[in-house]
Amino acid sequence: MRDLSAELLAWYDTHAREMPWRVAPADRKAGVLPDPYAVWMSEVMLQQTTVAAVRDYHRKFMTVWPTVRDLAAADDADVMAAWAGLGYYARARNLLKCARAVVADYDGVFPDTYAELLKLPGIGPYTAAAVAAIAFDRPETVVDGNVERVMARLYDIHAPLPGSKAELTARAAELTPQTRPGDYAQAVMDLGATICTPRSPACGICPWRDDCAARIAGTAAELPKKTPK
Ligand code: ADE
Repeated sequence: MRDLSAELLAWYDTHAREMPWRVAPADRKAGVLPDPYAVWMSEVMLQQTTVAAVRDYHRKFMTVWPTVRDLAAADDADVMAAWAGLGYYARARNLLKCARAVVADYDGVFPDTYAELLKLPGIGPYTAAAVAAIAFDRPETVVDGNVERVMARLYDIHAPLPGSKAELTARAAELTPQTRPGDYAQAVMDLGATICTPRSPACGICPWRDDCAARIAGTAAELPKKTPK
């Protein structure tokens, strides 16, 4: 059997998107991990907002409040004003609540496991898995819309979302490697954002082209199916 995660990691080594909060694959391999605070902030901002829009906001927040202690001590009104334009203001309120809990309950140090991260206010299963994997290299499975689409295609799953969520998550979990799980989590999301796109996926240059059941069946562009609202 082909080693799917190894194939994707090899692709990520040369195709990882540069992001201000990321550590490049070569540096991660040398043992460098990103600042958990910066990773957490990026994942909160990226919920419902594109990477392109998040870049400048993330830079601004990290400049004004470089550590979780700085953010915890900020005036609510300043944080809400800085958030203006990103939308979904509940996220900004939760950002502050979480920063204050990290300072009050964890002495300003982000906990490094999925279970502990999940206890923090405003951190749900997605963010807990993303921070555990990306910031601490824990073998957690990160599932967002990109990952669901990639799994539906890789395994040619025609059952519609949201009903198929559990199956897609199980497939994603099976593939998550014990080595480099943080890079792997980011690699699947990058694959979904740049190659395995919703419309006109670039199957010809996909590192999984020879493994992808939907590409072979010619169904990639119609997946994932969704139950009509
Ligand atoms: N979307 C949300 N989080 C992401 C990440 N860490 N990498 C790429 N795309 C993302």
